[in-house]
Amino acid sequence: MSQIIKNFVGLATSQRRRDALTIAEAGLQAIDTSTVLKNSISLEEDTLTIQGRQFELKEYKHIYIIGFGKVACTAAHTLEQIFDGRVREGAVIGIAERVCQVIDTYAGTHPLPSQQNYTATKHIEEVARRAKKDDLVLVIVSGGGSALLCSSMSECDQGTKLFESFLQSGGTIEELNTVRKHISHLKGGGLAKSLYPATVVGLVFSDVPGGDMTAVASGPTCFDASTVHEAQALIEKYNLGSFRLVETPKDPKYFERVHNFTIVSNVTALNAMQKAATDLSYRADLVSATVYATATETKELLHAKAAAGLMRCMGGETKVLIPEHSTGEGGRNDHLALTMLESLAPNQVFISIASDGRDNTAMAGALADAEVSHRARQLGVSAAGHLANLDSFPFFAQVGAHVQTGPLESNVSDLMVLLTAQAEIADAAITEVTAQVIKDSRGTPTISVTVTAGEHTGVFSVPGGASTGKHEVAVLPAAQAVKLLRTVLQPALLGMDVTNQAAIDALLHELDGTEQFARIGGNLALGVSVAACKCAAAVKRMETWQYVAELFEYKEQATAPRLFVNLINGGKHAKVGSPIQEHQIIPDTDNVHEALAAVRLVQSALRDILDEHYTRQQITVGDEGGFVIPSTSILEPFTYIKEAIVRANTGVSMLIGSDIAASSFYHDGMYHLPGASYTAQELLRVYDELHTTFPMLQMVEDPYDEHDFAGFAAYHQAHPGVLAIGDDLTTTNKNRLQEAINQNAVSALIIKPNQIGTLSDTLETMSLAYENKVWCIVSHRSGETQDDFIADLAFGTKCFGLKAGAPSMSERAAKYNRLLHIQPKYTI
Ligand code: PGA
Ligand code: ZN
Repeated sequence: MSQIIKNFVGLATSQRRRDALTIAEAGLQAIDTSTVLKNSISLEEDTLTIQGRQFELKEYKHIYIIGFGKVACTAAHTLEQIFDGRVREGAVIGIAERVCQVIDTYAGTHPLPSQQNYTATKHIEEVARRAKKDDLVLVIVSGGGSALLCSSMSECDQGTKLFESFLQSGGTIEELNTVRKHISHLKGGGLAKSLYPATVVGLVFSDVPGGDMTAVASGPTCFDASTVHEAQALIEKYNLGSFRLVETPKDPKYFERVHNFTIVSNVTALNAMQKAATDLSYRADLVSATVYATATETKELLHAKAAAGLMRCMGGETKVLIPEHSTGEGGRNDHLALTMLESLAPNQVFISIASDGRDNTAMAGALADAEVSHRARQLGVSAAGHLANLDSFPFFAQVGAHVQTGPLESNVSDLMVLLTAQAEIADAAITEVTAQVIKDSRGTPTISVTVTAGEHTGVFSVPGGASTGKHEVAVLPAAQAVKLLRTVLQPALLGMDVTNQAAIDALLHELDGTEQFARIGGNLALGVSVAACKCAAAVKRMETWQYVAELFEYKEQATAPRLFVNLINGGKHAKVGSPIQEHQIIPDTDNVHEALAAVRLVQSALRDILDEHYTRQQITVGDEGGFVIPSTSILEPFTYIKEAIVRANTGVSMLIGSDIAASSFYHDGMYHLPGASYTAQELLRVYDELHTTFPMLQMVEDPYDEHDFAGFAAYHQAHPGVLAIGDDLTTTNKNRLQEAINQNAVSALIIKPNQIGTLSDTLETMSLAYENKVWCIVSHRSGETQDDFIADLAFGTKCFGLKAGAPSMSERAAKYNRLLHIQPKYTI
C-alpha cells in the first residue's frame, strides 16, 4: 500500500522524526478499512467466516448491505469484492461516494445531520424493509453514524439542536449518546428491531475509546440498557430544551439474530505502532487505549515515564473545552500537539493523529518537537498565543508541521506517540552559540565561534587571507559578525540538531540568501559551520577527524597528508623579496614525525645558508613563518632551498613546491616580474626554465592569474609531471573546480574552507575533486589562529597534502602537532 502520510519525506528531517513518523504510519496502515475487512472476513465457497465465526450463505435467500459513518462507502466497495456478485442490494451513507456494483453510496454531512442524510437514511430504511426472515443483512457501523443516521427530518432537526446545546453543557459523550438513542428510532438497537427477523451481521468500526460497540454510532444494532426516563433526566439536568423521545427496543428477541463484530478499533493501530517501534529498536509502551482527558492531563500521562529509547503510545480522545465566543481554529489533535510542544526535550518527538483528523481538512494531526519550536521562533509565530486562543490549526499550518494524509478511509479514535530518542541524541540540540573578536597571527581582528549543545562545545577560530582570490566568499568585519551572530544567527540555530551538518549549513545559506555570503559573511558562516562540526563530534564522542570522515563518506582508510612547508616567503606575505609568494619543501612521507624532523633539519640548514649571504638584520620572517630575504630574484630562493635539502641530507626524499600566486603580479594583461613583464605565453617560457633548473620543483600553485583557465591549461599540458594546483583560480568552489576540470587546467587544488564558507560546501568540492582524480591540499591562511581544525579535515578526508607554513610559528605548529596527535601509528 502506498504511504498514507503524504508529507512523510518533508517532515522527516531528523532520524528521530523519521522514526516517529514510521510508527505513526504503521498505525494508520493497520487501520485501513479495506485491509482490516479483508483481514477479518473471508468467503470460501458458501462459507462466510468473520473473525472465526461461520455463516453458511446457502441458508440465506438474499444478502443486503447497509451502512453509515465515515468508512461506509469504502467498506461497501470492499464487501462487494469479497462477496463477489452475491449482494442483492444495498445503500450506505459515508463521506465520499464510491462507485459500486449494486450498492448505492451517499456522501453525508458530519457532525451535523442534514436533508442529504435524511434522503440517504430513507433509502437505507427501504433496503432494510425488504429484508425478510431468510435474508442476511450486513450493517456497516462506524463513528460518524452517530449524527448521520436520522430517519425523519424532525429527527435531523432534533439531532442538530441536541448537538449544539450539548456542546456547551459539560455533559459526557455517553450522556449525549443516551439522549440521541431516544431521539432517533434507529439508534440504541432501533435498526436491529426494524431488521427483525432477518439475520444481522454488525461490522463495527470503532472510533470510541475502549471500543464499546454500543457507543459507536449510538449502537443501532446493539441492545440499549438506558431508558427514556434517564434520557429525559439528562435533558433536564443540562437544561437542553424539549425533545420528542421514544423508548429503545427492550425485547431480547430483536437481538437474537444479531451478531456484532468489532472489525477495528484504536487497539489495532496501537498494536501496529508498538510493533513498528520495536522493529526500530525502541522499547514500546502502551499508556492506555482509552484515555478521555484534557490536553494537559494527557501531557502529564505521556511524560510520566518517558525515557531514552522508549516509545510511549496512547489511544483515546482529547477533551477540548471551547470557551464561548472562541474564534480559534482548533483541531483536537493539533491542540494536543501544541499543548505538548513546550514540554518536549530536544530528543523527543510527539505526534497526535486521528483517522479523521480535523473535519474537512487533509490533515490527520500534527507533529511537535524542538525543531517546530525553533521554526516558530524563526517565523515569529507564538505557540503560547495560539494555544491560548485555541488556534492550533493555523499554528501548525504556518510552521509546516501538520501530518498530511488526505481524507482517510478508516475510522478509529485519536492516536498519540511520544518518542524519546537515545540519550546521545538528547545532547545534540544547540543550546548556545556565541562569538568573540580575537586577533589572528597578523594582529588583525577575526572571530572565534563557540557552539554548545548541552554539555558539549565546539570552538572554531576563523583565519583570514592576504592574497585572497576574487571568487572567495565575503568577509564581514569581526565586530559586525559578532553582532550579527547574536541578533540573527543564534536565534535561528537554537534547538537545531548539531549533528545535522547539512541542515546547519543549509540554514546559513538560507539566512544569507546571496551567492557569496555577502550578508552574513563567509567568515561568520564558517565559524558556525566548523564549530558545529566540532561540537557534533564531541556529542558523538568521536575525534573531529573521525566525524569529518563520516560526513565525507570517503571509504578509504584515513591517512596523514604530505606536508607542504613554506620556508621562504615572498609576494604579499613579505615586505621585500621575490614576487613569488611561497617556496616550500615537501617531505615525501606520510609519517608526520619523520617529515617534521626532516623539515627541522632543512630549515636549520637553510638558516645557515642564508646567514652566509645576508646579515642577521637582512633576514626577516614572513606572514607564514618562512624567511624573507631582500632579493627580488626569482631563482635565488629556490637555489637556497635546493642547497639546504642537499646539505641537511635528511634521508627523507624531498620535493620542492611553490605558490606563485601569479594574480598578485598580474595586471593589464601582463605578468610583471622584476626587470620584465610577460604575456601568458612568455611566462610559460620562464616556468620551462625554472623547471629545467630545478627538477625537484614538482608542485606549483597558481602559476597564472585567477581568471586565466587557459594559462593554467597550457602550463599543465607543458608540464604534465608537475602538480598544477589551483588556489585563487578555484577558491574551493565546486563550480570553478568543474570549469578547471573541463578545461584540464589543474591536477590539484587548494582547499581552504573559509574561501567557500561552510564545511558542507568544502566537502562537496572535495568530493568533486576526488571523483575527477584531482588531488586536494588542505591549506591554512596567511593570517592564522591557533585553531587546528584543518589538520582534522586533511586527515579525515585522506587528503593528499596539508599546507600549514613554517612549523617555527606556533599557529602553524598547532596544525602539525594536531597531526601528531591523530596519527598514533607512528607516534614514538
Ligand atoms: P593567503 O595566502 O592566506 O594570504 O590567501 C595563502 C595562499 O595563497 O595559498
Ligand atoms: Zn595560494
